[in-house]
Order: sequence, then C-alpha cells, then structure tokens
Amino acid sequence: MHHFQERDGELWAEEVRVADLAREFGTPLYVYSTATLTRHFEAFDSAFSKIQHMTCFSVKCNSNLHILRLLKKLGAGADIVSGGELHRTLMAGMDPKTIVFSGVGKQEFELRAALAADILMFNVESADELETLSRMSRETNTTARISLRINPDVDPQTHPYISTGLKENKFGIEMDQALDLYARAKELPGIEPVGIDCHIGSQLTQISPFLDALERLKALRSELLNMGLPIQYLDLGGGLGITYGEEDPPHPKEFGQALSQSLQDQDLTLILEPGRVIAGNAGILVSRVLSTKSTAHKNFVVVDAAMNDLIRPSLYSAYHRIAEVKLNQRQEQTVDVVGPICETGDFLAKDRILPGLQAGDLLAVFSTGAYGFTMSSQYNSRPRAAEVLVDKDQARLIRHRETFADLIRLEEGL
Ligand code: LLP
Repeated sequence: MHHFQERDGELWAEEVRVADLAREFGTPLYVYSTATLTRHFEAFDSAFSKIQHMTCFSVKCNSNLHILRLLKKLGAGADIVSGGELHRTLMAGMDPKTIVFSGVGKQEFELRAALAADILMFNVESADELETLSRMSRETNTTARISLRINPDVDPQTHPYISTGLKENKFGIEMDQALDLYARAKELPGIEPVGIDCHIGSQLTQISPFLDALERLKALRSELLNMGLPIQYLDLGGGLGITYGEEDPPHPKEFGQALSQSLQDQDLTLILEPGRVIAGNAGILVSRVLSTKSTAHKNFVVVDAAMNDLIRPSLYSAYHRIAEVKLNQRQEQTVDVVGPICETGDFLAKDRILPGLQAGDLLAVFSTGAYGFTMSSQYNSRPRAAEVLVDKDQARLIRHRETFADLIRLEEGL
C-alpha cells in the first residue's frame, strides 16, 4: 500500500498533485512519500516486536540525507557498504551503535572511519579483511566487533544479478571455513566476534529461503557457543521483495512471524537490513513526454528520464508500472517508453499498453524509491534529477537538480 493514488482524474502524492510538483521542480523528478516510508518502516519493524531485534535500513537503496533522517526518527539503524554511506548516516545523525558495515571489498580508509565511529558491527567477508581489521584496531587502540558473513548456499530464486547466497557468488565465507575463521577471530587481538551474518539476495518473493538460511545460521551459532564464543547477533540481511507488477511477496507481518517463531527460544538479537521493502514503493519518478513517433514496427514515446536516471529496466529488464499523471481518454497503444540517451538499451518500458500520449504529457514511473536515484549517473552529461519529499500537503526539495556547473566542477582549474 502506498500513497500515490489517482483522484479526480489525476495522480496525487499524498495531498499534493503530482502535476504541480512537476511544474514547480521540473522533470525528471523523484518524489517520495513520508506517509508511505513511515508505514512501510513501521509495518516491517513491528512484525518483529515479539523478539529482540534491530531494523537497519539498507542505505544503498536510498541514501538521501533527509530520507535517512526520517527513518532514524522512526527508530531505524543503518546497513552500510562504503565509507561514503558511513558519512551519510553519521551526517543524518544515526547512532553508530545502530550501524552495521557489510561489503565484500572494504578499504582501509573505510575501516578506519568505521572504527573511529565505533559502529556496532563489521560484517567481515574474508580472512584477509579479518587480519586487516585486527591490525588496524590494534594500531588505533580500538576493538572491532565483528560477525562473519556466511554464504549459506541457499537459492533465493531471484534475478541472478541480485542473488548473493549461492556457492558461486563472490559474497561471504563458505560454511565449511566458518568455524576455523571464527577460531582465528577469537585469538586475534582487537577483534571481538559478536555475530553471524548472511544476505542471500534481493527481491525474494518467498519466505522459505530465509528460513533455510536462518536454520543454517542457528546451527552454526550453537557450535560457536560451544566453542565459547558469545554470539549475540544474528544478521539475516535484507531481501524481502515488493510488488512491481504481478509479484505477490509475503507481507512483512508474515515474514516477521515466521522468523520470530523460528527464533523464539534463542537468546539473541536479530538484525535485519531491509531496503527495497521500505523505500521501493515509497517513490515515483516523474517524467515528461518529449515526443512520440511511430515506425513500421514500433510506437515510441520519448521521455525526459533515461537510463542514467533509472537503470533498472536496462540492467535487469526490470518491470516498473508506468501511468500518466493526468488521466486521458485517448485510445490505448502499445509503446516503448524510451529516454534520450544514445543507446538502444535506454528504455523504461517495452511493449507497454498506455493511453495515447502526446508531447508535454507527464508520466509517473512507479516503485522507484529504492535503487532509483542511488544508481543514477551523469551519463551523456545529463545532470542528475531533483528529489522531493512529500508530507501530507507539503512538498520539500531534498536534493537540488544538478546543474551544468556541477557536471564540470571537479574538472575545472586543474
Ligand atoms: N544487505 C546487504 C548486505 C545487501 O547486499 C543488500 C542489497 C541489502 C541488505 C538490501 O536488500 P533489499 O532489502 O533492498 O533487497 N540494485 C538491485 C538490488 C541490489 C541489491 C544489493 N544488495 C536492484 O535494483 O534490484
């Protein structure tokens, strides 16, 4: 459920007309809904109210400072994967004790910053990273609380580019090597093993792969407890899917119930790293039609948003619902919605049935609150889009539209 609904023949973001936002802030424009973000966060977090848990928002899916501030106010922690994300979360006022640091290739400057901030936990992905972290925490007279990211080898049944917990994936540490590495972690100075971590993939539409992974982590934990390691945190990563089109993912409540039941007799804190399920359907991308044209084979609708603004259709063949902002009664047509970038792969939708569109019409691309703006670029020297956060009848600019000056700022005067 989200707060982008049609009323009186046009699309609204909460109590604001989307057409008014396009007029005021221009297009392409990302629009987020406070009520939707709040509702999604609370639905997710409260699903785990029966057990000790932390909900650490996965910053990679939407890292805007103002979104992070809102989520922090609602009680979220953060799952970060880079020094840049650490900087953003700290600038947003997040408590370091609610931050977990994942990522397969952390660099020394990033580890150093996270040690200095004294974050809750490093999700370590290799023996090398563990040794580096030990050396650095000794050098800086700090202690790194760690978990090892285990690759539990379960099939998340999702797109191959976003499945991460299979044997052939680059992520994590094989189950067979986990005990030895935990034994090493126990001996290493400056290292305090406190958790076990995994993340099996993204956009999962079933609960069973999560439960399989959880069983494996629980079994590992009991071996570690026997080794005298007081493992207090079980981090199950993110990955719960959302409805883009026809998908029917489990409701967070069901997800929470299933996991809570599996953990009811365990004395630990469950960490979750949801991204998409919180932010995905809390954002739309608004774009204006530049032109339409038909060839013998196709009808094209050329819009002012492109793969640099939203890469998911080009990269994953992802489906995003598209609708016009002001409903029209024109006859439907099958069209490709494409951007201005000089690549055939630059499209937002293929063979989509939409009411007849004309230059100047506005379109909304739905479910773009996660992995939309954060994956955008300046390809073709296109300044990145502006971002707006709506709260009831108020709309607030939360990121300026980039300018031509921004495009060359770091190249000038050299
Ligand atoms: N934790 C870790 C360690 C992750 O790698 C990810 C996502 C998450 C949490 C959050 O997953 P979520 O709850 O959002 O599914 N760009 C792709 C998605 C890549 C996901 C990468 N990792 C997309 O647009 O579909």
